[in-house]
Amino acid sequence: MNEILKSISSAKTLNELDKVRVSLLGKNGTITQEFSKLKNLSGDEKKEFAASLNSKRDEISKALELKKTELEILELKERMRAEAIDVTMFDESGSVGALHPITITMNKIIEYFLSQNFSIENGPLIEDDFHNFEALNLPKYHPARDMQDTFYTDDARLLRTHTSPVQIRTMENSKPPIRMIAPGAVFRRDFDLTHTPMFHQVEGLVVEEGNKVSFANLKYILEDFLKYMFGDVKVRFRPSFFPFTEPSTEVDISCVFCGGKGCRVCSQTGWLEVLGSGVVDPNVFKFVGYKDVSGYAFGLGVERFAMLLHGVPDLRSMFEGDLRVLEQFR
Ligand code: PHE
Repeated sequence: MNEILKSISSAKTLNELDKVRVSLLGKNGTITQEFSKLKNLSGDEKKEFAASLNSKRDEISKALELKKTELEILELKERMRAEAIDVTMFDESGSVGALHPITITMNKIIEYFLSQNFSIENGPLIEDDFHNFEALNLPKYHPARDMQDTFYTDDARLLRTHTSPVQIRTMENSKPPIRMIAPGAVFRRDFDLTHTPMFHQVEGLVVEEGNKVSFANLKYILEDFLKYMFGDVKVRFRPSFFPFTEPSTEVDISCVFCGGKGCRVCSQTGWLEVLGSGVVDPNVFKFVGYKDVSGYAFGLGVERFAMLLHGVPDLRSMFEGDLRVLEQFR
């Protein structure tokens, strides 16, 4: 019996153990054969032998069962070890993810304004007419609405055409002083070399009580910001028009490709337009119930910044997901 138990406990695999089981309890197994001896016995002898054979067989079955469980656990562990993936291992296929150029640019912009104590605000992508237009001093049928071709929804709402509605929402929900930026996606019905129906803007708004905020503050922060983004460039403020700012300016930087000498990218002008800005129009403050305050606002297109920073010639390549383009930003 000791021999038998030893042969069970020394089995190294489930396969080996099964062979041992067959050699003992199988059709021609040693224990099975002993049972066949019973027919030659009779009376008490038969009873005794049967009893001892039964307990022997039970003991063997139990030992087999125990060993089987042990080996199953062992084999499972071995399989898990063999199939485990070492995530620290070098991936020779060479595909490594990268941040999208728009994300990289957005992060750099946000980084600057956080360093200047601006908060980050968000608003809905599906807006109503009031926040996207009216409260920004763009009444219905105002010709300036044509500046932004709008996607309307069936329930008379719209996809926001700029991040400026976040100015309104932030002022509705808090009192001055306000010092915020609002990064996010915006939508316009436009699709060609330089326009995609979805793109990204970063809005900025600073409001304080009294007449503390002036055009000079706007000029300082935007100059400082553009030098942070583009390095040693010249910055120029050009009179312009936005319904929600007065005075309004568009801001240009000296062309980052030709240094201002004139090239194809800047249409030989030496300047690149990079953002819109101005002193907040008093009508906007009326819409949100603000009195005796002053402020400035600005808005910029993130794709344009990304293209200028990374020398991307075609805006559409930003959204095609072509790995050959994206891999260059690793
Ligand atoms: N909302 C304007 C646009 O999308 C940009 C802007 C924002 C201009 C804030 C002035 C002040 O073109």
